Amino acid sequence: MARSLPGVTVQLLPFPAADYAAWRAAQVERRRRWQFTPLWADDAAATAQAREAVDELAPAEGLSGTQLLRVLDSDGDDGWVWLMRQERDLLVLDAESDAPPDRLLALLEAHARAASATALILDRMVAAPTTAALAAQGGFTVVSQTMALDLADAVDTEDGPPVTLRPMTDASFAAYLDAAVDEYAREIRSTDHVAWGEALDHSRKDYEDLLPQGRASAGHVLLDVVESQAGARVGALWLEVRPPSAAFAYDVYLQPDWRGRGLGRAAVGAAARWCRGEGVRVLGLSVFGRNAAARALYDSLGFTVVVEALRRPVEPAPPVAGPR
Ligand SMILES: CC(C)(COP(=O)(O)OP(=O)(O)OC[C@H]1O[C@@H](n2cnc3c(N)ncnc32)[C@H](O)[C@@H]1OP(=O)(O)O)[C@@H](O)C(=O)NCCC(=O)NCCS
Repeated sequence: MARSLPGVTVQLLPFPAADYAAWRAAQVERRRRWQFTPLWADDAAATAQAREAVDELAPAEGLSGTQLLRVLDSDGDDGWVWLMRQERDLLVLDAESDAPPDRLLALLEAHARAASATALILDRMVAAPTTAALAAQGGFTVVSQTMALDLADAVDTEDGPPVTLRPMTDASFAAYLDAAVDEYAREIRSTDHVAWGEALDHSRKDYEDLLPQGRASAGHVLLDVVESQAGARVGALWLEVRPPSAAFAYDVYLQPDWRGRGLGRAAVGAAARWCRGEGVRVLGLSVFGRNAAARALYDSLGFTVVVEALRRPVEPAPPVAGPR
């Protein structure tokens, strides 16, 4: 159904089925270029990842669970928005349109309101122009970011307290997992506003899915961070090697008593050196928007944001005045 705002000529219309295959091919190309190439540093791997991502959310046989709409404004400017309803949010998975961004945003908010969503989530590749223009309208807060460090460009310094990385033992892995499951559950609870039991189950399941064989899970490298002078185990690093050129840090963790002394910086520096030694060219990671310490650390080390989720509350429609 067409939907337009009073006084605003931008409209959302059904996307023509005949154009779906071409849109999918273009979406694979956008993801390859703007999402996966910066994170995988290899064209074949980036293409495979982009295909997999699009096949999952926009299968060749047709959309289910997401919505693709055509954007049309009075100048004849054309484009599309790709949306997904998730719990109480309306996600903008991607968009491409020459419509004025303030009008497009107002239209998306009206669409969200009509679907009883309480927030708009812009799930954006930072290099994509339309969602960048939407983000620039303001009112968004950062929910999470996925960042990449180009190890060829990053400066390799060994300043600061020396740390050593060594493979976790069964005991250090068990201790790490207990603490990590607990900390991640806290993040889930505060981000998704769910009960503690639900957050804990969600956290445990995510760890089990990612590490089905514990510290021996294929492709995963679990390392203790050891403060070299005292020989104390002060934290943990969890890397996944993604051949042929990338690695992803699932976790960088310092025990609370050891934070704020330069050891986190030293640990990420040591991880970058370990990656270089393995022939890795790009190190990626994800961080919650609220994690100011980690974001400041990664920014200062030269990580750049590749994709991010931004949240903007959707104000309820003002009540319509009834007859007196
Ligand atoms: C994030 C974390 C690894 C940082 O380690 P750390 O040893 O505390 O950090 P460092 O002392 O090495 O500080 C490095 C930089 O981080 C930033 N930083 C550290 N603590 C900070 C704080 N409380 N507020 C803002 N920035 C902070 C600063 O940019 C700092 O650089 P500077 O000292 O030159 O200003 C650590 O705090 C931690 O384990 N947190 C809990 C787990 C976590 O959130 N991991 C990240 C998951 S993505």
